[in-house]
Amino acid sequence: MTEAVNNTGELLLGVMGDPIAQSKSPLMHGVALQALGIPGAYVPLHVTPDKLGDAIQAIRTLGFRGVNVTIPHKVAVMEYLDRLDESAVAVGAVNTIVNDEGRLTGYNTDGIGYVRSLKAEAISELSGARILVIGAGGAARGIIAALLRENPASILIANRTRDKAQELAEQCRDKGRVSGISLDEMPGKTEDVDVLINTTSVGMYPHMEASPLDPLLLHERMVVSDLIYNPLHTRLLLEAQERGCTIHGGLGMFVYQGAYALEYWTGRPAPVELMRQTILDSLS
Ligand code: ATR
Repeated sequence: MTEAVNNTGELLLGVMGDPIAQSKSPLMHGVALQALGIPGAYVPLHVTPDKLGDAIQAIRTLGFRGVNVTIPHKVAVMEYLDRLDESAVAVGAVNTIVNDEGRLTGYNTDGIGYVRSLKAEAISELSGARILVIGAGGAARGIIAALLRENPASILIANRTRDKAQELAEQCRDKGRVSGISLDEMPGKTEDVDVLINTTSVGMYPHMEASPLDPLLLHERMVVSDLIYNPLHTRLLLEAQERGCTIHGGLGMFVYQGAYALEYWTGRPAPVELMRQTILDSLS
């Protein structure tokens, strides 16, 4: 039986964000806790930026085993924690907090969740892969840090604002393998790409007609991955499928970032397929 931090015998978990009502994490984790037979609850916690420090202190006071942290708190929350795991340091953001008897550790499971999903669902080996990442924001930073641990041959970042792509490339741990260009410079640079990943919001509901790149740049030996999971199949993925590429959507990243968090809190393997199905059912 998993130890609760409080003495009620219940495992208290939640997600802090602003807004928070739209989050699918309570649904996904609630079903998972039930399947694991762990008494407890995972609740949505509406926390505005001015209340973040108090809310983090409340985790200790109330005996929460842990929380997820979402927009807009992923960076700001770091100053309130006792320790940062290497995953959070590499990304400069936290999405999961674990409470060990009042001592709070911040993790980032977004990047490793993404890589676990990519490997489980689309390409089992990333070592030696040539990767093209579209976008240079927080999401790109998280997945690039995790991708670098897989020993790829290269990571090329293509971004609307070229400077941001180059800045992010410079900041990477393994910067010899990472470079940045603008979106306009992509033609001619995709023939050798093994994995192309969209980290921007281009194509997300309700702007489903948009795609971040010309489909003529895609080829059938490519895995094309999109972090967006609403819609499940973005225009980019539909066009990639038409051109014979292997496609990979963003739902798995959401499921596996949650799976890692649940595993940190409970020490038990997460019921990943059930979690995925629960989200799929909620989207249809
Ligand atoms: P996130 O944390 O989701 O990555 P972000 O940090 O705001 O969000 O980054 C958004 C990324 O999507 C950026 O790379 C942004 O490009 P710029 O750096 O040029 O702003 C990219 N992006 C957003 N809207 C875009 C659009 N319409 N076309 C191309 N890129 C876009």
